[in-house]
This record gives sequence, structure tokens and C-alpha cells, in this order.
Amino acid sequence: MIIDQEIKQKMDKLRPYLPTEQSLLLPLLHAMQAKEGWISVEAMKEAADYLNLQPARVQEVVSFYTMYNRKPVGKKHVQVCTNVACFLRGADKLVEGLEKRLGVHCGETTADGKYTLSEVECLAACGTAPVMQINDDYYENLDEKTVKEIMDKLDSELRNG
Ligand code: FES
Repeated sequence: MIIDQEIKQKMDKLRPYLPTEQSLLLPLLHAMQAKEGWISVEAMKEAADYLNLQPARVQEVVSFYTMYNRKPVGKKHVQVCTNVACFLRGADKLVEGLEKRLGVHCGETTADGKYTLSEVECLAACGTAPVMQINDDYYENLDEKTVKEIMDKLDSELRNG
């Protein structure tokens, strides 16, 4: 079971502030992903049971939002926005450089399990495009030089455990 006591307590705290039980779905999925790293089909069924929803409804929500991982991801999930503002400011070149550096295409994880690279829709930071999100951190106003610096730093963090 992914939904443990800790997650249930979080949901109990949120419940009074939300209009319906169904409104707990996004924070529930967020908590489940924080624990497991991704949302499996079993996790979707568990969320549906917990909130008394149809599993198809949970599946629709998980597939709509790119923030939910439907496959296991690497230790660092590098998500590059390629929507209009970021694209116009060179996001495609950044993706190309990252694919080359990591030796994977978007949607793939490196063989050592360290990185997953994804292209995502607008990260809601268009004013500081191009933008990428790595795990919970945002990196803005990127160019090839800053991406290299960020990735070098992450490589060294991962090397040192
Ligand atoms: S288009 Fe990239 S953050 Fe909005």
C-alpha cells in the first residue's frame, strides 16, 4: 500500500479546506509520487479506492498533467519546457544539447538511472524563458552555458552521493 498513515494524515488536514472528496485527488497523487517517484496503474487504483472514484477518472487526471510520472524516473528528472515562449528563446537547442550530453532521447532514462529527460508543456514561468524543472527546482533564463553549469553541478552531487 502506498497510501500510508502519513499520507492519510496529510489528506485529513486538507479535507476541511476542499469542497469535495474528489478535490483531494491532486494532492493525494502528489504525495503518492513523492513517496514512490511515479504513479503506477496500481497506484491509480489505490487512489481511486481511497477517494471512491472511478479508476478511469484517476487515469484521466494522471495522463493530463505532465507533473505526474507514469513511468519510473531517474534520480534527477530534467524537464525542459518547449512551449511557445521557451521554444522562441531556444529551448529546442537546449533539449538537443541535453540529449547529446545524457545519451538519451526525451522520455528516456540514462542506463545508470541518474537522469530522466522530458519535454514538458508550459511551466508557467514564460517571462523567464527558457525554463527547465529538475525534481522540485526551477531553472530560468537558461542558455547552453548555464545548462552545462547546472548539469556539471548535478553530476558532481550525484557522484558524491
Ligand atoms: S512557455 Fe515555457 S514556461 Fe511558459
